[in-house]
Amino acid sequence: MDIDKNKDKHQEGRRDFLKKSSLLTAFSFTAPLVTKAAKSNFDERIANFFEAQKVTLSINKKSYALQIEPRVTLLDLLREKLHLSGTKKGCDHGQCGACTVHVDGQRVLSCLSLAIMQEGKEITTIEGISDGRQLHPLQEAFIEHDGFQCGYCTPGQIMSGISCIREGHAGTEDDIREYMSGNICRCGAYSNIVKAISDVQKSGKAV
Ligand code: FES
Ligand code: FES
Repeated sequence: MDIDKNKDKHQEGRRDFLKKSSLLTAFSFTAPLVTKAAKSNFDERIANFFEAQKVTLSINKKSYALQIEPRVTLLDLLREKLHLSGTKKGCDHGQCGACTVHVDGQRVLSCLSLAIMQEGKEITTIEGISDGRQLHPLQEAFIEHDGFQCGYCTPGQIMSGISCIREGHAGTEDDIREYMSGNICRCGAYSNIVKAISDVQKSGKAV
């Protein structure tokens, strides 16, 4: 609890710093001919950029009423604010696929998605694909085929693998490799990941 409070204080301090430093920068570049009114309007817009906004998001069929700064990514919101840490941060630059989630049924990289823009959409994370007792068929297949070693890339691989099957791109092993190429596995578990996806596709089970 104390850690959370300290974290909140730290974030507030950081927010204030960002606000002030942006305003200072803005002031330093403001031409003298700009009117006072226009300047205060500009300051307001800069300040708003760092202000938390109210937003309601639906994540794993649960509604969350939140206050989010516009710059916060969906990945950081999931992991740091909602503690849905199944979604992993690998590169944070759209290069590794570890952060893959579904938005309205489509796979997206949550590190490249702003949380505030997801209002009105259904977000599904790795925590939302099983009902808590019964694993998703692709989770079972990953276990059966040893589709992981350290497991860090696995949530992203599974979310992408589900999409790969739904999109009709899991008909052949070559197709699977092609349409899973955005998901990097540093342990090199690729051949078993492909087998797991292929098996579920062939089984005809609903994903
Ligand atoms: Fe998002 Fe690597 S963390 S693609
Ligand atoms: Fe270790 Fe994929 S299982 S990175």
